[in-house]
Amino acid sequence: MKIVICPNVEQATLLAARVMEDALRQTPDITLGLATGRTMEKVYAALVQAHRDRGLDFSHCQSFNLDEYVGISPSSTQSYRAYMHTHLFSRVNIALSATHVPDGMATDLAARCAGYEKALHACGGVGLQLLGLGENGHIGFNEPFSAFTSCTRVVTLDPATREQNRSMFDDDLAQVPYHAVTMGVGTILDARRIVVLATGAAKARVVADMIEGPLTASISATALQMHANCLVITDEAAATALTRRAFIDHLMQHDAELQGLLS
Ligand code: GLP
Repeated sequence: MKIVICPNVEQATLLAARVMEDALRQTPDITLGLATGRTMEKVYAALVQAHRDRGLDFSHCQSFNLDEYVGISPSSTQSYRAYMHTHLFSRVNIALSATHVPDGMATDLAARCAGYEKALHACGGVGLQLLGLGENGHIGFNEPFSAFTSCTRVVTLDPATREQNRSMFDDDLAQVPYHAVTMGVGTILDARRIVVLATGAAKARVVADMIEGPLTASISATALQMHANCLVITDEAAATALTRRAFIDHLMQHDAELQGLLS
C-alpha cells in the first residue's frame, strides 16, 4: 500500500483524477472500475474538465461500476446508473455500450451478478479501480463480514450505510433500499491497480483501520493491505487517526514512485 496525504480535499481529488487521466492516456483501451458517492463527484468533474480542456479521450475504454441498489430503476435519479450519467458518462466521449453498472432490477439477480463477473473477465479484468470508503469500512457495498474472496452478489446494507446514504433519497430513510448488488472484495482485489480516495474527518477512523489495522472481514477495506498495487490518497482531515504518520511522511519524501506522483 502506498499512501499520499494531501493538504486539502481539492488537491487529493485532483491527484486521484490525475492518476486516472495518466492511466487512460497510457492505455486508451483500459477497463476502468468506477465508484460513486459524494467524494467521487469532484474526481469526475476534474476528468470532464480534462476531456474538455486537454482532449482526454474515453472512446476506447470500458467501465464497470462497483455497485447499484436493488429495486431502483436505472432511470431513477437515485440510481448509481443515473449518478454516473450525470457526473461522467453524458459529459465525456465514452460509448454507452462500453459502460457497465450492475442491474438492480433483474428478476434473476444471481444470474445477472454471474453475468457481470463474466463480462468483466471478457474485458480482461479491471486495469484501474477507483474506490471510495464507507464510514463502516465498506468498499463498493461490501458491508462488514463480506468474505475477502467474495464476487459480485446481492448484499444486505448495514443500517449505518442506509443512514449515510439517506440524503440521496430525499433524506427519507424509508426510501433507502435494504439491498444492493456489489462487486465482491475478491473482484476488487483482482484489479491490477487500485486508487482509494478518502477525504474528510468522518473517514479518519476507517482510513487508519484500512492502513494500520489488522486484516478483518469486519472492515472490508483492510483487505486492500493484501493488494500489491494500491495507492491511498487522503486529505489531512482523513489522516488524523493514523499513528504511523511520521513514517508515512518519510515515505512520501523518499519513495521514488510517490515522488513521481507528487512532482
Ligand atoms: C456508497 C458507495 C461506495 C462509496 C461510498 C462513499 O456507499 N456504495 O462505493 O465508497 O458511498 O460515499 P461518500 O463518498 O459519499 O462518502
